[in-house]
Amino acid sequence: MNILVIGSGGREHALAWKIAQSPKCDKLYLAPGNGGTGEVATNLDINPKDHQAVIDTVLEYQIDMVVVGPEDPLVNGLVDDLKAHSKLTELLVVGPGKSGAILEGSKQVAKDFMKKYGVPTAAAEVFDESNINEGYTFLESLRPPYVLKADGLAAGKGVLITDSLQEAKQNLDDLILHKKFGDASARVLIEEFLKGIELSVFVLTDGKDYVILPEAKDYKRIGEGDTGLNTGGMGAVSPVLFADKDFMKKVEEKVVIPTVKGIEQEGMDYCGFVFIGLMNQSGEPYVIEYNVRMGDPETEVVIPRIKNDLVDLLEAAATGNLANSRLEVEPYTATTVILVSGGYPESYEKGKEITFKKPIKSVVPFHAGTKLEDGKLVTNGGRVLALTGLGKNMGEAISRCYKAVDLVSWEDMNYRKDIGFDLQKLGQ
Ligand code: AMP
Ligand code: GLY
Repeated sequence: MNILVIGSGGREHALAWKIAQSPKCDKLYLAPGNGGTGEVATNLDINPKDHQAVIDTVLEYQIDMVVVGPEDPLVNGLVDDLKAHSKLTELLVVGPGKSGAILEGSKQVAKDFMKKYGVPTAAAEVFDESNINEGYTFLESLRPPYVLKADGLAAGKGVLITDSLQEAKQNLDDLILHKKFGDASARVLIEEFLKGIELSVFVLTDGKDYVILPEAKDYKRIGEGDTGLNTGGMGAVSPVLFADKDFMKKVEEKVVIPTVKGIEQEGMDYCGFVFIGLMNQSGEPYVIEYNVRMGDPETEVVIPRIKNDLVDLLEAAATGNLANSRLEVEPYTATTVILVSGGYPESYEKGKEITFKKPIKSVVPFHAGTKLEDGKLVTNGGRVLALTGLGKNMGEAISRCYKAVDLVSWEDMNYRKDIGFDLQKLGQ
């Protein structure tokens, strides 16, 4: 089978790394890929936003399966365009169409969906320019912290949380009136604050059946001890101790089953991953958000723990045959530490040469913001490398990660030194 993975991040590198191990995979391509993905696949210089270019590529390279990594092409209907093409009726596609991707594309639609199908989530009200005064009154009726969410896609920056009522009202103005995220913040959800520990749960579904993939914990803030600005993710761990059998049973019964049932009953075009962001609040799961793709950096710890041939699973999903699939999970712990450009998540410079003291053997280095320039590997984004370590326990996995970190350098490299430490304190 010839396979094309759409995207250029650590998530796509990890997916490609696993797909390349499958005997079913003949040729593997990434569009556009990055400075490291050339080791497992052929990079194609194509912009995923250009749907016609993707279609032309699928035809030219005789692609049998397309796996779409990031949310933007999904929300913008790449899958619909691929499936609608008269010459691509046999193509297998992993990723929801627009009708499914709206679960990530609109937090209001997702919230209504959760309410309709009885999925536990924070209570919320929606406001826009026409009723912004009611928004202020609603905020006054709540206790802090105040959670405000832009309805649409905002590159992971659309959630604003503050303890100050004054600031919450200002945030509401910034989002709605000053169009902080353009049309994406024309509507805003004001939401009840959930208190607890977060968990990322991943489901692969064909629209009616599902398998639950290994869970993970993501470290979103830039600073140690979960301080500072939100980022795309600074590290991840899988498995997560508190996600024990009892808790995961609750997740399956209260969240996964009604979600997949809702997808089916709404007639959504949905084959692909559902990433469920959860809060464990006093032992009960509450959904914070749905994403219609895998998480990044969670993929870099989830995928290495999957024993199955990934192409088998993706093929089963794309052909509606997941009912017969069983997931097999590696018993070890996976941890990943993200190396980022100095200044990230605010402004940072690109083009710094990345050097390795010696070849990295103890971890798998997944590339994100890297590119090859005249044979040299240079930085090309905020999140640059994900170093994934495996171990018989978390201590072993994480110490492999940090030993490998010492072998990598570039000017202004930054990373968090405490990935997994909170879980170790809890006994993991
Ligand atoms: P999201 O972009 O929806 O993942 O939200 C970003 C982060 O904001 C989440 O990972 C949570 O840490 C936090 N968050 C979102 N909604 C809530 C909520 N209702 N209560 C507490 N924290 C939240
Ligand atoms: N790690 C969070 C995300 O992928 O959205």
